[in-house]
Amino acid sequence: MKNIKIALPSLKSAKLRRNINVETIRYKLDNKYVGLGTGKTYYIFTYGCQGNEADSEVMAGILEQVGYKLSDDPMNSDVVLLNTCAIRENAEQRIWGVLGQLKGRKRENPDMIVGICGCMPQEENATNKILESYDFIDLVFGTHNREHLPELIYQAYLTKAKVVEVLSNEGTILEDTPKIRASHHKAWVNIMYGCDEFCTYCIVPYTRGRERSRSKEDIINEVKELVELGYKEVTLLGQNVNAYGKDLDGDYTFGDLLYDLDKTGISRIRYTTSHPRDLDEKTMLAMRDCKSVMPHLHLPVQSGDNDILKIMNRKYTYEEYMKKVNRLKELVPDISITTDIIVGFPNETEEQFQNTLKLCREVGYEGAFTFIYSKREGTPAAKMPDSIGDEEKHDRLNRLNVIINEGYKKGHERFLDKVVEVLVDGESKNGEGMMCGYTPNLKLTHFKSNDLSLIGKVVKVKVTEAKTWFMIGELCE
Ligand code: 5AD
Ligand code: SF4
Repeated sequence: MKNIKIALPSLKSAKLRRNINVETIRYKLDNKYVGLGTGKTYYIFTYGCQGNEADSEVMAGILEQVGYKLSDDPMNSDVVLLNTCAIRENAEQRIWGVLGQLKGRKRENPDMIVGICGCMPQEENATNKILESYDFIDLVFGTHNREHLPELIYQAYLTKAKVVEVLSNEGTILEDTPKIRASHHKAWVNIMYGCDEFCTYCIVPYTRGRERSRSKEDIINEVKELVELGYKEVTLLGQNVNAYGKDLDGDYTFGDLLYDLDKTGISRIRYTTSHPRDLDEKTMLAMRDCKSVMPHLHLPVQSGDNDILKIMNRKYTYEEYMKKVNRLKELVPDISITTDIIVGFPNETEEQFQNTLKLCREVGYEGAFTFIYSKREGTPAAKMPDSIGDEEKHDRLNRLNVIINEGYKKGHERFLDKVVEVLVDGESKNGEGMMCGYTPNLKLTHFKSNDLSLIGKVVKVKVTEAKTWFMIGELCE
């Protein structure tokens, strides 16, 4: 098969952060592609973070705009896209598995277009593997090329060759795209893209480009439109939302944005993810002052040991982290704090790991994503000698999870016998006749009801049981 290699990724050029103005592209569909997908279907497999989920909503919007309809049978669609994640090796393993399945389908239906996009193609190694070993894939494109989707599909149909376009530039800002949102009451709202932190273990700054903030006007208008459409909750997205505005002219910060969004009339505002170094007083004050900003903060710590934090290039100490946590608890006494932790970073000693456990007990996390360190080629940590055995890494993860799981349960127990407000998502998988949703503190709550008209509404529920992973309660009124 002939390859059309428009552009291939390079981790070296992805690391460049040139001091140039970021281009904002206002998406407009070229007439040439109208009707490209009429009578055809699509399906998007989405892996990884909320950023990828938001990207998939944009790609679905673009595909539907040119006529494609969502398929209810992924393996039998005309266009299948895999929106991938590269953050850890096991995320990639899952994707190679699905590609294996698609290979068989493509043999039976050669007209099906299979595309791989998102973070994996931004890595040189992954793209080389795709080109060498997965010859049946038609489209390979990265995180900076979503707006070219109709053109890429058009090329794939036209040439019947593999189309590869992975830009390693710092990225642009894409506005005015159509979106097919997964929910009618909760929405993702990107406020910035990329990451400039370069934590030594992390591939994201290479795959997602430099930090670039959307204009406050574009963000506020998007939230206002969502309010008009009846949305109740927005989650503001960015790899490091606390750095919002640093790349823009002026001194407008993330805290200012929270105050402004609070005035739009949206009922609930959440945000993820935060970098502890950039979490500032204004943001914490906004969490206290703005009724719509929910009392939950995801504040990834990664490690509780100062030497490890330094080698990770996290740019804060245990003491500085605790100072911010304590200030936050002072301002928002009801807050629930969750985090991300990596165990088994190269050469982490038992004593250093114990410092992480100590920090967890001190903060009283009510939840955490815990990971075993995964080597990512091209990052500085990948060159560090790693002396810890797999068994030890798993043992540390297990010991950490015992503490974290206790935190989950305690976080639920503190609401026992209290009345909480639940934004209803839908029917619960926890048993027939049950519905579920989330409280302001992001506690999953199940309650007895089969009234589907409650979906998208905020209801009062009295908590009667606190489990590790959820709460159970009774609908009031
Ligand atoms: N190995 C393990 N975990 C990682 N994360 C990022 N990179 C790696 C890696 N190489 C985790 C961090 C981050 C979360 C999104 O993923 O904890 O906060
Ligand atoms: Fe990765 Fe660090 Fe950026 Fe988070 S802040 S995306 S861990 S480099």
